[in-house]
Amino acid sequence: MYNDNPTLQDLNAKTIDESAQGQVYGEAAVAEAPRDKQFYIESYGCQMNFSDSEIVASILGEAGYGPTRNLEAADLILINTCSIREKAEDTVRKRLRVFDKVKQRKPGTMVGVLGCMAERLKAKFLEEEKLVDLVVGPDAYRDLPNLVAGAEEGDKAVNVFLSREETYADINPLRLQSNGVTAFISIMRGCDNMCSFCVVPYTRGRERSRNAFSIVAEATDLFDRGFREVTLLGQNVDSYKWTNPETGAVVNFAQLLRLTAEVHPDLRIRFSTSHPKDITDEVLYTMRDHANVCKYIHLPVQSGNSRILDLMNRTYDREWYRKKVDRIYEIMPDCAISSDVITGFCTETEEEHRDTLSMIDYARYSMSYMFYYSERPGTPAARKFTDDVPLAVKKRRLQEIIDLQTGISHELNQQDIGKTFRVLIEGESKRSADDWKGRNTQNKMIIFPKTGAYRPGDYVTVTVTDATSATLLGHLHNPR
Ligand code: SAH
Ligand code: SF4
Ligand code: F3S
Repeated sequence: MYNDNPTLQDLNAKTIDESAQGQVYGEAAVAEAPRDKQFYIESYGCQMNFSDSEIVASILGEAGYGPTRNLEAADLILINTCSIREKAEDTVRKRLRVFDKVKQRKPGTMVGVLGCMAERLKAKFLEEEKLVDLVVGPDAYRDLPNLVAGAEEGDKAVNVFLSREETYADINPLRLQSNGVTAFISIMRGCDNMCSFCVVPYTRGRERSRNAFSIVAEATDLFDRGFREVTLLGQNVDSYKWTNPETGAVVNFAQLLRLTAEVHPDLRIRFSTSHPKDITDEVLYTMRDHANVCKYIHLPVQSGNSRILDLMNRTYDREWYRKKVDRIYEIMPDCAISSDVITGFCTETEEEHRDTLSMIDYARYSMSYMFYYSERPGTPAARKFTDDVPLAVKKRRLQEIIDLQTGISHELNQQDIGKTFRVLIEGESKRSADDWKGRNTQNKMIIFPKTGAYRPGDYVTVTVTDATSATLLGHLHNPR
């Protein structure tokens, strides 16, 4: 999750906590044939970064590097970074201090910075952080083996070239941290939206969509290997648009959704993130008409006030967003909607903040990722507006939003008590080896005792008996 504030986020989500340690890859692959050299990779930021780390692992694997979870054993230490808020960058710098110590103990260890912070700071990184040997942007991962070889020869290596074409379509990601049930498929890269607060268009470059056939092939391969859920990833999945170079035929997001849903009825499809301006009726009807497309939409509102939305360059206003929410519930009454919210954006007044509160109330989000505004250098907001809402006010508004959302999540979860859901078992509950955890179509996590002979990857029917604001608790409806 994009979490640097204490919110009610579901800690089991397949997302990222920038305030925590990041995530380390390597377990599954350690069992593979031993390699001459080992790499260690930690990932921060959004799901795209996690998905990219799997591509990096695959590229390095081809070059003879095996993954390790042991920092001290690594010949190459990589950190896949995020620039979305200042805190995300602070976390990375702290980790670099730790890597520095490892390098002092083991001279010759290479340290590489990947991802959005590498792209934002470019060669400046090498000046700011003396221990860094490699700086590699998100579109330059194919060059990693070359760059590592160069760095081993003593050259400081930088490749932050942003591509208009690169989608890594032909690379089969190495699913290192996998539960064997759920996986991400990156369907597009970059973002053309230019929300004024956001650094992503600068760190990820122009939007481009991946070959639809390669996406369907990846989904099919995952299903054949026992996976039962894929999440189609992009900064703005609804603007997915791929033109077949041979036929000129265009595949839009609704069509891609249908094609992946048709891989197998037992393969669940999720997607993230949807920009409200692009989610069409065609997408909503495709969701409705396919039982295996999950009834859950992450539809970040950012603010509930039209003036602030305009300053943010979100291209919709309050009324328009409300109508979109109405439309979703009209077409799919059982659909869950979640959101991202920013408090204290430049010039936001108390009244405008209250519009955000009332929007959360209106939309009945199942959950939200909530942040206070963090000015990012070089973005339109940093250039044009003053970051004039005091930090204490930003934080107080954030707390009000968190409290409201927690209450709504709790209320909605209470309403689920007594209901029965089809749940895909993802694995053992973190808290108890006697319980399974899984999700329903609305993306709600459900914990239930292991009765009957089931395994991760099985679909089961669970009756909800209790709920907190973050999790549902239940029992198997009809254990076999
Ligand atoms: N592409 C996605 C969001 C990617 S960034 C979308 O448009 O929905 C994830 C979230 O981080 C954003 O939705 C926004 O809520 C938050 N965010 C982005 N830039 C931020 C900033 N400068 N300060 C605080 N939060 C920010
Ligand atoms: Fe950033 Fe907006 Fe693009 Fe999302 S849609 S990545 S918030 S510019
Ligand atoms: Fe962060 Fe880059 Fe993702 S800035 S949120 S890792 S696209």
